[in-house]
Amino acid sequence: MKGRKAPLARELSVGEVARRSGLAVSALHFYEAKGLIASRRTAGNQRRYGRDVLRRVAIIKVAQRLGIPLATIGEALKTLPEARPPTAADWRRLSQHWRADLDERIRKLTRLRDHLDECIGCGCLSVETCPLRNPFDTLAEEGPGARLLEGDGG
Ligand code: FES
Repeated sequence: MKGRKAPLARELSVGEVARRSGLAVSALHFYEAKGLIASRRTAGNQRRYGRDVLRRVAIIKVAQRLGIPLATIGEALKTLPEARPPTAADWRRLSQHWRADLDERIRKLTRLRDHLDECIGCGCLSVETCPLRNPFDTLAEEGPGARLLEGDGG
């Protein structure tokens, strides 16, 4: 008696990936345009994704939830092997790295919050004296330009 054959590893359409990942098709197109995921095109010019895309998309979603910039996520995904889906060990490595990044952003945000306490009720917004205008004493090293606060932490 013949054993039951395992189902073939089938490629996924963009609609299937969207349904299974909970993402909009437009988001998948965006990720692909940013180089975070990849597909091949059929003869009819339709996208087809390997099944590993579901784990990659899961990693992207979690990383975005942590506030990791897309460019950083893309760099991390490039370190994953293309021949197989990301494993638990891969995720452990990436998440440890992002934990450190998250800790650093929390530290900076905590400092900003504490400075904000000093500013409440003041309103001077003085470059010389307001701690929120130069919270990390780094702006002088970066040169002139409008990047106060907004440039920190992505
Ligand atoms: S607004 Fe005056 S110290 Fe920040």
